[in-house]
Amino acid sequence: MHDVSSANLRSAFGGESMAHMRYLIWGEKADRDGFPDVGRLFRAIGHAERVHAGNHFAELRDQGGDFLVPAMAGFGLGTTSDNLAGAIAGENFETEEMYPAYIEVAKTQQEKGAQRSFHFAVSAEAIHAAMYQKAKQAVDDGRDAELGRIQVCEVCGYTVEGEIPDRCPICGAKKDKFQTFA
Ligand code: FE2
Ligand code: FE2
Ligand code: FE2
Repeated sequence: MHDVSSANLRSAFGGESMAHMRYLIWGEKADRDGFPDVGRLFRAIGHAERVHAGNHFAELRDQGGDFLVPAMAGFGLGTTSDNLAGAIAGENFETEEMYPAYIEVAKTQQEKGAQRSFHFAVSAEAIHAAMYQKAKQAVDDGRDAELGRIQVCEVCGYTVEGEIPDRCPICGAKKDKFQTFA
């Protein structure tokens, strides 16, 4: 694999891994703040980020060894509203800047696997940003997000509230590939 695409995959793995952990921590904070549905949303989306990290890691299967990994790392443990704002900013960065740039490089280098992994991720991040935005609105109005079942595709990280479509709209996986956060 070309060096730049491997470096981008490692960087994306770093970013997704940290997002996964950050969302678990912010989810615990949301529970403590009395917003259990927001806590569940953080855990479900955190799981989607874990799926993205796993996809990037698998693409790097032949690139073993130790590397320093630069990745954007959002910090701050504030109120649940602050944490949701941090989550929205991170999702927007990935949707608008990071993944589009990585996808262009992977296309130029004809790295199909990297393209696919980045495409799966960026498609889910846009949905995450919208879900967090809705949750922040509720929290800023002083109420919980009042969400139904949240379901996450184990193949691509697609995240949906409510019913699962027959096939995942991003990767085409069947219903049994979804994990439910109820
Ligand atoms: Fe992600
Ligand atoms: Fe995301
Ligand atoms: Fe999927």
